[in-house]
Amino acid sequence: MQQEQRAAALVVRRVMEGRTLPVALADVAQAGAPGNPAFVRELASGTLRHWGRLAALVQALARREPAPPLAALIAVALYQLDHTRAPPFAVVDRAVEAAATIAHAGVKSFVNALLRRYLREREALNAAVSAASPVARWSYPRWWIGRVQADHPACWESILSVGNERPPLTLRVNRRVVTRAALAAEFASRGIEVLPVGEAGLIVVDPQPVADLPGFADGAFYVQDAGAQLAASLLAATDGMRVLDACAAPGGKTTHLLELADVELVALDADAARLARVSDNLARLRLARRNVTLRIGDAGAPQAWWDARAFDRILADVPCTASGIVRRHPDGKWLRRKSDLATFAAQQQRILAALWTVLAPGGVLLYATCSVFAQENERVVNAFLEGHPGALRESINPGPLVAHDGGQLLPAGEGTSHNQDGFFYARLHKAA
Ligand SMILES: C[S@@+](CC[C@H](N)C(=O)[O-])C[C@H]1O[C@@H](n2cnc3c(N)ncnc32)[C@H](O)[C@@H]1O
Repeated sequence: MQQEQRAAALVVRRVMEGRTLPVALADVAQAGAPGNPAFVRELASGTLRHWGRLAALVQALARREPAPPLAALIAVALYQLDHTRAPPFAVVDRAVEAAATIAHAGVKSFVNALLRRYLREREALNAAVSAASPVARWSYPRWWIGRVQADHPACWESILSVGNERPPLTLRVNRRVVTRAALAAEFASRGIEVLPVGEAGLIVVDPQPVADLPGFADGAFYVQDAGAQLAASLLAATDGMRVLDACAAPGGKTTHLLELADVELVALDADAARLARVSDNLARLRLARRNVTLRIGDAGAPQAWWDARAFDRILADVPCTASGIVRRHPDGKWLRRKSDLATFAAQQQRILAALWTVLAPGGVLLYATCSVFAQENERVVNAFLEGHPGALRESINPGPLVAHDGGQLLPAGEGTSHNQDGFFYARLHKAA
């Protein structure tokens, strides 16, 4: 455990210095940090998820603020004490040893005293740091809390809370390969408990390595949140249609569209490396022989890649802050800046306006983000509608079980009937 605590602390530091979690994990692994990589990822993700509170606790517990790597190590241990089943005294003992390797042997008694005090005074300390600062209370940057409060006055607390949960492992069953009932039965026969979600989803109750699950190599499922699984049915493409998936990589929604209908599909993405993952996913899901073309290109500049044949359906799953999927990517909340919102919104407007020009009259464009911020959702769509009188926004009904507010699917957490990330969908119909 000691090696993983140390490695997780180094990863957390790197994220706080500006690297994404996957890059930080790879950096630390490459630097030769020993330990179980999955355990390191769990500790680092969990610590980042609760970083606002943990960092405030470290400050409250230490008379002198420790150097950043040591502070990160103490935060990792605090995370374990509060959110894992690891025996508290083992957590403390290992963290004390790890602290000596991160700083020097002289810090052992300091870390030991600090963590033991936490165990004695946990409730009072948590109450005090939470009362002192919303960042400690919610574990999000102050600007983020303010935006969620302003955009969702009736449910901002629930949105923030769900974003701090451990994410479920949700699968979308590939109905071209197997039925949901048959796959669930196969899992049950191996002792793997699953719960149905949405039309074609299964939540694996005890998350485990995906490649070890039955059916993975046969393309029986794709890992995809329940909220993301709604995109393909909201687009409602039918056999024979020409469809553009304009921001396609790594292909979650591309593959779903091909599972649901025999369409002629163009999968476009600006990032060649990410687009290669679409090919891999098409191959694994047994969809490579379908009528699908991959194109590298900027969705906002169709003149470079469009063959002048209009599309009946367009999915614009645009780049965004990813504020709705923060429970899966807890580094995001500490890496994003408030100013990113305006940058994304400008790019989203540009892509939406350009894609409209390649949509056939009578066609439908589905604008999608995995965000809960109105600036890149309602406001982008409203500005677009003002400038495009031929565009009609259709109401969407994603189903009675989905927490839904206009086009905003609200994040819903563990124990709800539709455990899903936060997504935004707007269905735009072009006058014939
Ligand atoms: C939200 S992700 C798409 C996820 C994908 N639809 C799925 O379900 O797997 C956004 C994608 O947009 C791509 N992207 C960013 N800017 C773009 C642009 N100007 N044109 C096309 N793709 C872009 C990114 O490379 C990224 O793969």
